[in-house]
This record gives sequence, structure tokens and C-alpha cells, in this order.
Amino acid sequence: MATDLIRELDDLAEDARGAIAAASSRDELDALRVDYLGRRDGRLTAVLRRLGELAPEDRPAVGKRANEIKEEVAELLEARSAEFGGEPEAGPALDLTLPGRRRWLGARHPVTQVVDEIYGVFRDLGFVRARGPEAETDWHNFEALNTPLDHPAALPGDTFYLDDGILLRSHTSPVQIRTMLSHRPPIRILAPGLVYRRDPWDPSHAPAFEQIEGLVVDEGITMVDLKATLGEFARRLFGSGTRTRFRPSFFPFTEPSAEVDVSCPFCESGCSTCKGTRWLEIMGAGMVDPAVFEAVGYDPERYTGFAFGMGPGRIAMNLFGVPDIRLLYEGDIRFLEQFS
Ligand code: PHE
Repeated sequence: MATDLIRELDDLAEDARGAIAAASSRDELDALRVDYLGRRDGRLTAVLRRLGELAPEDRPAVGKRANEIKEEVAELLEARSAEFGGEPEAGPALDLTLPGRRRWLGARHPVTQVVDEIYGVFRDLGFVRARGPEAETDWHNFEALNTPLDHPAALPGDTFYLDDGILLRSHTSPVQIRTMLSHRPPIRILAPGLVYRRDPWDPSHAPAFEQIEGLVVDEGITMVDLKATLGEFARRLFGSGTRTRFRPSFFPFTEPSAEVDVSCPFCESGCSTCKGTRWLEIMGAGMVDPAVFEAVGYDPERYTGFAFGMGPGRIAMNLFGVPDIRLLYEGDIRFLEQFS
């Protein structure tokens, strides 16, 4: 009896070797595994069920042979599975002593974050976005803005000229001119963009930086509209308790003109951001000079307006405590990734 069962087992092994060698897919191998080694209905199990028919002293030899065959068949199945792109071997590839991998997150540039926030506030106040070219004519950049070409700002010492009469715009104010030339009032625009100046590359200057221009033109616009709009803007950007201060100033294209300060959002009694003055200067502004309306063909008797210009880079430096403007423009990932 025992020898019968051992012969059956040897036949079964022989069958299995042939079938495994002939298998041509992973699915076939899986089916063979069930067929030969399946715990409930597998062929090996069927033979082992008959161990009970043997005399007790014969059982170990048959059991031993059955185990050998089981191991052999399992190994053959494993080896052929690997040929069909089997699961990677678990084990040495996983090194639990390695430090974990941090997922790297991109971040919007701090100046972009501030521009988006400022634009969001003015959009809610009814402004639309406008844009103009970075290579401008000297007429749009200076003369139409009531600034003669012998003004110091227009000289090649301060402004990058590309060609005769063509320059890299030194402020976003020429977008005022382009907008008024192509549209009739009422106008309510916000124009963010890069501007260029022959400035040194030092902690507080960069030769290219962002500005945001605003322009409102309609009948009956007064300085009250300017103050109310910029005051509301400051409260929405810096917090509801923010106060605004207008200091007399001069720009060729606005009259009267003002520098606009906001109460320092970071201190009660002086701090490093406002250098103890309690105020932060955030923009230049004023009522549009009638000479500018004349340059674009608007009737200065009928229309009035206000304009303002600010530097979101400087505002970002204040908001985020950035000590050197060059950090904003060097593209150093160690700096930029702090803003994610
Ligand atoms: N263009 C001015 C500058 O670059 C800012 C400004 C814009 C002032 C609009 C008044 C009105 O400094």
C-alpha cells in the first residue's frame, strides 16, 4: 500500500514538472498551483487524505515524500512565475534604516502671492486687470505722463534704452496712457507688471522689479474717492484696524500727489519692520494731472481721476520679514521653499 501511494506521488510530481514547464502565462501557473497544491481539492491533498488507510508505521515515509514533492512543486511554480514578471522579492530591497523621503512641494513666489492678494482686493472693489508692454516708447513712459525727456528719470543714467525712443518701462504708469487711448471712461483698472531701472544690485535695489498700477477715471471723481478706495484697500490687505496716512509728494503725472503710508501691522510701539516709525510707506498716488488727460485726448474739464502705484516686492519684504530684496530674485530654492 505504502509503495502504491509513493508511486502515485512520484507520478503526480512528474505530471506537475511537465505541466509547469509547459505553462505559458502567470494565470496558467496560478491554476496549476491550485490544481496540485490547493489545500481543499488539490491533487496532493487527495493523496494525503488516504494516509489514514496505511498502517501507522508506513505513514511517515509517505508523508515525507509528499512534503518533498510539495516543496519542489512550489519552487518550480515560483521560478516560472518570476519569468512572467512576478512580484519583486520582498526582503533586502527594503532598508528600514533609511531616512524617509519627504514629498517636495512647490510654492508660489512670495511676490506672486502678494500680487494675487492685492489684485483680489481690487477685483472685489470693481477693478479689472490691464496690461502693457515692457518695451515701451519714451512717449508712453514719460512725455504723455507730463514728464519731459530731459527729466532726470528719463536720462540714460536711470532708464534702460533699447533703441532710439524705445526703452524698458521704468514704471507701470504707461499702462494708464495705453488704457486711456483705447478706452473711454469710466475706467477702473489694475495693472501689475515688471519695470526696469538702472539701479544698483544691493539689499534694497534690483534692476527689475514688480509694480502695480491703478487708475480710475470718470466724471466727478475726487480726492475723497482716492482716500476712501486706498483706505479700504489697506484695511482689506493688512487688517481692519489699519490706518492710512497721506503725505504731500510730487509726481509729474498727478496733482496733487501723495505718498501713502499704512499703520505698521506688526507693532504697537515700534518694531524692526517700520524701524520704530509705526508707519510703512506702501505707494505713490494722486489725482490725474490735466496734462495727462490732454495727452490722451480726454476733456480735462469733464473728467477727473486718480492713480496710484505700488511695489508688491517691498510689501512682500515687509509682510514676510525679508531683509534683502535680492533674495526675491535669486531663485534660491532654500529661500523660496519657505513659502509653500
Ligand atoms: N509711477 C510712480 C513710480 O514709479 C508711482 C505712481 C503711480 C505715483 C501712479 C502716482 C500715481 O514711482
